[in-house]
Amino acid sequence: MDTRAQVLTLLKKDSEKWVSGEMLSRRIGITRTAVWKNIGKLREDGYRIKSAPRRGYRFLATSEMLLPEVIGEALHTKVFGHRGIIHFRETDSTNARAKDLAARGAPEGRLIVAERQTGGRGRKGRTWFSPPDGGIYASLILRPVMPPSQVPRLTFVTAIAAAEALLHLTKLDVKIKWPNDILVNGKKLAGILTEITTDMDAVNYAVVGLGMNVNITNFPDDIRDRATSLLMETGVRFSRAAIVREYLTRLETYYHRLEISGFEPILKRWKELAQIIGQRVQVEMIDTIHVGQVEDIDPEGILILKTEEGDSCRILSGDVTFV
Ligand code: BTN
Repeated sequence: MDTRAQVLTLLKKDSEKWVSGEMLSRRIGITRTAVWKNIGKLREDGYRIKSAPRRGYRFLATSEMLLPEVIGEALHTKVFGHRGIIHFRETDSTNARAKDLAARGAPEGRLIVAERQTGGRGRKGRTWFSPPDGGIYASLILRPVMPPSQVPRLTFVTAIAAAEALLHLTKLDVKIKWPNDILVNGKKLAGILTEITTDMDAVNYAVVGLGMNVNITNFPDDIRDRATSLLMETGVRFSRAAIVREYLTRLETYYHRLEISGFEPILKRWKELAQIIGQRVQVEMIDTIHVGQVEDIDPEGILILKTEEGDSCRILSGDVTFV
């Protein structure tokens, strides 16, 4: 355990009491100056620690940042999040970082999180609004044994995990929108970006990136009508770390289920959470727009639309709007 972690452990252990600098320096075997410097580091990391002359230090509150030790504190997964959590105060895109790390051999289950992204990306080359403090920007490295054609399954698994985590922690009416959005009251609360690298005709590694609007209070003009956050929907600030833990736990369970039982049970759960079958929708693709009724989502995750002309259309990817 490094010195910062030792100081933190001792402070948290006696969080009701004042802990003297002298005691900390003696117990850890460092100078009083080193104690003071480490308290400074912890405060910079968002821990709230009070200090008073002659009394010492008192732990007030855990950091609200997505620090590895904060996420890991009560994380009950076996692998996800236990193969390293890499935290950035700021990065371009956690998906980009995760792909770099995976290319250099990082294992399945490593999680990359950031407080803010300067180049957060969404589907179809869009940007993902990624201000500090308010959002979850989290990318997980996976090494699934599957052909590239089955990769949409990972997005389905991720969407179920994110939706179930939200249903568990809130009373909101959370829905999945095909293929990769999480909606509340018709507005987008979260999105998923799955990226892969292939090796011949197998997936080498995949990165599932989740962007979730948690404590965001304002959106840019161009997305204000379509986006929402947990804080805006409930009036309550949520712990991002608690959401990440719930999400990872479910993601691990469903990923495992996909490996063992195949896509059928995943698709079944996804359909329950999406409630899209039978809905009238408009699907916008690169060069066309289809309007019709959703007949089904097929075993490959493809949307089957009965158009107004009576044709059955198989759509691999597009933007769905309910009409
Ligand atoms: C979408 O709805 O278009 C997908 C949005 C995915 C955003 C997340 S935020 C974390 C990860 N890093 C990125 O650059 N994108 C994903």
